[in-house]
Amino acid sequence: MADKYKKLTQQFLCCYPVNKMDWSLLQLPLDLTEQKAVLDATCKHRLNRKYPVRWSYQEAFLKKLLVMLKGHEEVHDELFTTLLVDAPENISPYAYKHYIVRPDCKIVLKESISFVSEGTTGLCTWEASLALADYLLEHPDLVKDKNILELGAGTGLLGVLLKQPSLALGVRRVIMTDGSPSCVRLMRHNIRINFPNAKSKEEIEIPHCEQLLWETVEEFGYDDEDAINLVLAADVVYDNSVFNSLLRTFEYFYLKSNLKLHILLASTVRNIETLQKFSEQLQLYDYQVTPCANVPTSSSHFCRDSTAAVQIISIKGRDQT
Ligand SMILES: C[S@@+](CC[C@H](N)C(=O)[O-])C[C@H]1O[C@@H](n2cnc3c(N)ncnc32)[C@H](O)[C@@H]1O
Repeated sequence: MADKYKKLTQQFLCCYPVNKMDWSLLQLPLDLTEQKAVLDATCKHRLNRKYPVRWSYQEAFLKKLLVMLKGHEEVHDELFTTLLVDAPENISPYAYKHYIVRPDCKIVLKESISFVSEGTTGLCTWEASLALADYLLEHPDLVKDKNILELGAGTGLLGVLLKQPSLALGVRRVIMTDGSPSCVRLMRHNIRINFPNAKSKEEIEIPHCEQLLWETVEEFGYDDEDAINLVLAADVVYDNSVFNSLLRTFEYFYLKSNLKLHILLASTVRNIETLQKFSEQLQLYDYQVTPCANVPTSSSHFCRDSTAAVQIISIKGRDQT
């Protein structure tokens, strides 16, 4: 029965918008056993019990389910008790999301329930990260044997994904960075919950996290032995005032890599003028810039809600192949 609702489980656990969920999976009318199975596949799922998704989402899901069951002769008591009894007394500013990439690859991230909090937009995972994650999973050669550094990593989805043992991507070092101390703290927490046995593992087997503010990139402790050869950045092009320091950061790592750096930049297309402005500034550097074919949401490894398009570009030195 659990398998029957696995799409619903995947969507529920990453808080896919309730009104866009695959409700056609429910063949109405549902008898009491089926109703209980839906509840067990969502609110009562073991992952949600351990690391619950935000309550307002669970509440919206249960209310929608009850609307669907309107007119049924019997409605399972547990639907009502879950709605009434499980409601937390205090709403925490943080909750969890689970990304079921494959049956053997499940990522859990603590995230803020607000888009902007503690002075940053990075405490929740954005669409551009999911799109870039899809792209990397479709093109594993891009990450194999690479020392990877991520800029503006937010909650740490990409780094945690790249080091998943079940994906066997053959990635070398992964360093996730962000300028916000709150993001760094959150990423460290997310590393701990996804790699619970980290202490017994080799350093290289887990992602690491450091603070890196683009304005002061020269102060970043760079280890020459592990030259970074791939830089990732998702949803970092939205504020004109930091374009200069972001581009100086690209250049810093490009020069450190002996001009052998590859940069993959994923940007959500919210405001085309902002992206154009960034592109003009990027053209002042001696890079070759190539657009990458994005992975459509229909074949995404995540439940992506494609409200806005995501553009991925590849940036390399002029003479790099
Ligand atoms: C919209 S969030 C994207 C987070 C993550 N990459 C994602 O897609 O989910 C932008 C991130 O860039 C970081 N950021 C913004 N300006 C920065 C700066 N000047 N230096 C370093 N990080 C910065 C923010 O703290 C935030 O985590």
